[in-house]
Amino acid sequence: MKFGIESINFYTPHYYLDLEALAQERGLDPQKYLRGLGQEKMAVPPPDEDVVTMGANAAYRALENIERSSIDTIMFATESSIDQSKAAAIYVHKLLGLPTTCKAFEIKQACCSSTTGLQIAQALVTQNPTQKILLVASDIARYGFNTAGEPSQGAGAIAIVLSAQPCLLAFNGESGSYTEDVMDFWRPNYRDEALVDGKYSIKIYLKALAESWKHYVKESGARFEDFYRFCYHLPFTRMAEKAHTHLAKINKSTLTPTEQYQQVADSLKFNPITGNCYTASLYEGILSLMIESKEDLSEKRVGLFSYGSGCMATFFSGTFLPHYKRWLQGEAHHHMFATRKSLIYREYENFYTHKLPSDGEDYVTAKHETGLFRIAGIKEHKRIYETCPIAPPQRPPLQQTKSITKWP
Ligand code: COA
Repeated sequence: MKFGIESINFYTPHYYLDLEALAQERGLDPQKYLRGLGQEKMAVPPPDEDVVTMGANAAYRALENIERSSIDTIMFATESSIDQSKAAAIYVHKLLGLPTTCKAFEIKQACCSSTTGLQIAQALVTQNPTQKILLVASDIARYGFNTAGEPSQGAGAIAIVLSAQPCLLAFNGESGSYTEDVMDFWRPNYRDEALVDGKYSIKIYLKALAESWKHYVKESGARFEDFYRFCYHLPFTRMAEKAHTHLAKINKSTLTPTEQYQQVADSLKFNPITGNCYTASLYEGILSLMIESKEDLSEKRVGLFSYGSGCMATFFSGTFLPHYKRWLQGEAHHHMFATRKSLIYREYENFYTHKLPSDGEDYVTAKHETGLFRIAGIKEHKRIYETCPIAPPQRPPLQQTKSITKWP
C-alpha cells in the first residue's frame, strides 16, 4: 500500500520586510543577511492573521479538488499556539466546514511536529486505507527585536492531504530518529518571542542529522547515492548548505560542490522570500522543489530531514510519483509571492509590536490584506474569525531571488 501526498498548498501573509531595509536600520552590511543567512525577505503577518487563518488559507486551497466529507482527521502542528487547551485544528475545522465525524487535534515538538503528524497519519492510513488526513503546519517565527535571530523571522503554513492514493509524493516506510534534551531554542509560556542559542543550535542540528541518518541507514539499508534530491528543515536558507555538505562528508561523497548544490537548489527557492516557517519549513522546501524543478523528478528519490529544537529529529524519504507536476498549483503560488506588499521598517515595527488584548476586552481588528480568512476581533477572551471575499488572481511571474544562487 502506498502512503503519501495527494494534495499540498502553502500560504504566506501578504506583507514582507525586505532584509536590506532591516540591515540598513540595524547598521549592518545587507550581504550578511543575503549571503550569510541566505535570506532576502521575511514574511510579516498583519494584526488580523494568526496560525489559524494562515493554516485555514493553505488548507482551503489544498482541498480544492478533494471532497471535504472524505477528511477523517485534521492535525495541526505549530509552536505558535493560540490556546493552551483548545486545538487550532478545531477553528480550521469550522472555517473549512469539515464533517463533525472528523477528529481534530494539535501536536507539538518545535519544528518537527509536522513530521510526527505525518507519521501518525501513516499509521492511521495503514490501519484504514480509506482514511484521508489533513495535516496543517502553521507558524509565525518571532525572535526578540534587534537580536541575531530577528532576520531569520518569517511566517507561513502548509496544508497536506495524506492518503493511500497519493499523486505527488509517496513516503517510503523507514525513518531514523534522534532525541536529546538540549536548550538550543525554546519559548516559555510567558513569552511571545523564542529564545535561541543560534550557534549552538546549528551544532546540535548537524549532530542530530548525523545521528538520525545513521539510524535511518540501519533501518533502511539505503545509501547516500540512492538519493537524487534532498530537502532540509530551514531555520534560514544557508542551513541547507551546512547540512548537506556535512551529510556528504559523513558519507565520503565524491560529488563536487556544484553537484551537491544541485541536489538541494530547487528546494531553496521559497524560504529566502518567506523566512523561517518553523513546522512548515521542510514541507515548504518539498513544495519549492516540486514546483521549481525544471526536470521531471518522477520516480526519483528524495531524502528528507526534519529537525525540531529541544531536540528531536527524523530522517525519512519519499519518491516522486509519475505526472506529479499536473497536481501542483505552481502559478497560484508564484502569484501569491509576487503580489505581496513590501513594508517600510516602521510598518514592520507596528505589526511586530501589535498585540491582541489579553484582558477579555472586546476588540475589533483593523482590516489588512489577508487571504480568505482573518481574525475579526476578540470577544470575551474568544478569537472571532471571519471569511472575506478575495480578488481573482492576476498571475504575474515569480521574481528572481537575490540571495544565494550557488555555494561553490
Ligand atoms: N557578507 C557575507 N557574509 C557575512 C557577512 C557579510 N558582510 N557578515 C557575516 N556574514 C556571515 C558569517 O560569516 C556567517 O556565516 P557562517 O555561518 O558561514 O560562518 C553568517 O553570515 C551569519 O553571521 P554570524 O555573525 O555568524 O551569526 P549571527 O550572530 O548573526 O547569527 C544565526 C546567525 C543563524 C545564528 C541567527 O540568525 C539565529 O540564531 N537564527 C535563529 C536560528 C534558529 O532559530 N535555530 C533554531 C531552530 S533550528
